[in-house]
Amino acid sequence: MNTDQKVQKNFKGRDIIDINDFSKEDLLFILKLSRKFDPFFVKRDRSNYTIAQGKIAAVLFFEQSTRTEQSFRSAAQKIGMGIIGFNDPESTSIHKGESFQDTIRIMDSYADVLIIRHPEVGAAKKAAEVAEIPVINGGDGPNQHPTQTMLDLYTMQKIAGKLDGITVALMGDLKYGRTVHALSIALSHFKVRQIMISHPSLTMPKEFLKILDSEGVEYEQLDKLPQRLSADFLYQTRVQKERFTDLNLYKKIKDQFILGKEFAKQLDLGVKLMHPLPRVNEIDPSLDAHPNAVYFAQARNGLYIREALLALVLGRL
Ligand code: NCD
Repeated sequence: MNTDQKVQKNFKGRDIIDINDFSKEDLLFILKLSRKFDPFFVKRDRSNYTIAQGKIAAVLFFEQSTRTEQSFRSAAQKIGMGIIGFNDPESTSIHKGESFQDTIRIMDSYADVLIIRHPEVGAAKKAAEVAEIPVINGGDGPNQHPTQTMLDLYTMQKIAGKLDGITVALMGDLKYGRTVHALSIALSHFKVRQIMISHPSLTMPKEFLKILDSEGVEYEQLDKLPQRLSADFLYQTRVQKERFTDLNLYKKIKDQFILGKEFAKQLDLGVKLMHPLPRVNEIDPSLDAHPNAVYFAQARNGLYIREALLALVLGRL
């Protein structure tokens, strides 16, 4: 078996819960495979409707979502899967008092893969302890969002042509933002310099910095955006209102890291602007048309990553 075949074998039946479980080799393999689903790389007809025919994805969303839920639904159908699930747990027997574990056990027997988003840290892991089929973490509270990270890496690699040697600035809510937590860890596998820009009360949690330290990652922490940012990518994020216990604090700092019209100058100089979306007001819409504003393309890439991931964990690639 060559290395790719070995890595591929690794993925069958695998849970996608924590970005720390994925080696550099694993991540590069997923990125490579995702290209097979991307019309930018594959010009011929991309119909893959039979890859996972007969398989069922259960989409269990205990927290709001647009991109993650809908792109998983679209990806599953594009590779021939059927879909069951819910995005309003109050419409299920949870409303009658059924436990999380029992709900998972039941969905496990109706599906071939579970995709779960939940406001609690560790919820996807808890589901994986009960479920026999693969569980994919679509975001567990303020902790992690590993499939978002995969599409973020895919986007960076597609644009920069590489990951080693780039500089990435992460800005906004680094405390509660699960996307930046998982992304920062994944980038630590590559020779990437990281710049973290946030209000002092929203800095990257120590548990994640510790991992960066142990990997010898070069990073700096700033409390404002430099006049001239020296980075290949600026990854802007939303201040996570729903995670604050003190709403006055939220109100005080929510507008301190807005990118206005004047940021076009930095885009002109070559900084690429990313954002996991949804944005509230942290990027002025006048920037959207700039070729270096790549957040909508980034969201589209989520489809290709999720097609590849579903096929991989089902052992259908
Ligand atoms: C993010 C999330 O849910 O963590 N959105 C997404 O999945 N693309 C970011 C956010 O809500 O701010």
